[in-house]
Amino acid sequence: AFKPRVFSGVQPTGNLHLGNYLGAVSRWVPLQDQMETIFCVVDLHAITAGFPDRGELQKATREVTAAYIAAGIDPKKSIIFNQSQVREHAELAWIFNCVARIGWMNRMTQFKDKAGKNRENASLGLLAYPSLMAADILAYKATHVPVGDDQKQHLELTRDIAQKFNNDFADRIKDLGVGVPNPEPSPETPEELFFPITEPMIAGPATRIFSLRDGTKKMSKSDPSDLSRINLTDDADAISKKIRKAKTDPEALPSEVDGLKDRPEAENLVGIYAALAGKTKAEVLTEFGGQQFSAFKPALIDLAVEVLAPMTNEMRRLLADPAEIDAVLKAGAEAASAIAEPILKDVRKVIGF
Ligand code: ADP
Ligand code: NA
Repeated sequence: AFKPRVFSGVQPTGNLHLGNYLGAVSRWVPLQDQMETIFCVVDLHAITAGFPDRGELQKATREVTAAYIAAGIDPKKSIIFNQSQVREHAELAWIFNCVARIGWMNRMTQFKDKAGKNRENASLGLLAYPSLMAADILAYKATHVPVGDDQKQHLELTRDIAQKFNNDFADRIKDLGVGVPNPEPSPETPEELFFPITEPMIAGPATRIFSLRDGTKKMSKSDPSDLSRINLTDDADAISKKIRKAKTDPEALPSEVDGLKDRPEAENLVGIYAALAGKTKAEVLTEFGGQQFSAFKPALIDLAVEVLAPMTNEMRRLLADPAEIDAVLKAGAEAASAIAEPILKDVRKVIGF
């Protein structure tokens, strides 16, 4: 059987925001004690939308790494590294470009969103992004991927690529003795698998955090409005201002989750409170049902500051010593390479190089 192994990552395209923290990084922390965990700063993905100014990529990579550590990712328990330092990602991505079909990529909604109207002028890398993401995961034969809900479609594509590779090369995988028995054999799938069919881990009250300015758009680093997101580097004043200005409706909070239907802004703030407090939305509404936003927002501000301030301080402390961060990334890249290299060696044998 495949060894249980977690892989996930964040792009160094700016600072981490509350959506990245609640939807992804905070949920990685408890996994460190349950499985082997690998967390990557995905800098090769960060160039799909354009090459940042000189120095920006390195700065953002250090910031994301500091945020990981400040959020509780422990370099002693997890491998932390940046993607460009382990060559196997790019090599396997190329091979997957030849496994995946153009039609699969054309169906990706994130590509359509990010490319916008001028699709012909988007980079080829932006279109092939999910193929690199599949390579990130499968270069380690990772079995579990904790991400936000926005990544669901890309993870399905990772599963499709793994499946097609396992099927297309079934005979060679068997002959070379590089597969493991298929835990769920069926007439359509081979007896032995080379890549695992990765399980997405998308659960909890914060799988998708929305913009504070528009309850239908996801909170994102690429949103031009800084009021739309809470950054992990925001101080108490900034957090307070952004939550006070967050868009809401005039109604009081309902006492049951059903009452949040068609109230995206209210649902978003309740979801954020729930995730920060480690509660369900129902529990939050039991406490605040019937109250106005004028009462709920100050409680949310207090909670957000209580959770985020220690992390912000720790990030500042870490960023004051970039050499320490670089050392973590270097050791992480060596540990990651030690896993990915033998896997790629087998991949080369399977495809016949
Ligand atoms: P962004 O979309 O801000 O550029 P990334 O693409 O680097 O962020 O995503 C990093 C991780 O954060 C992924 O697991 C993604 O699913 C998660 N994530 C990003 N935005 C949100 C959000 N608004 N709510 C929940 N999770 C999110
Ligand atoms: Na994303």
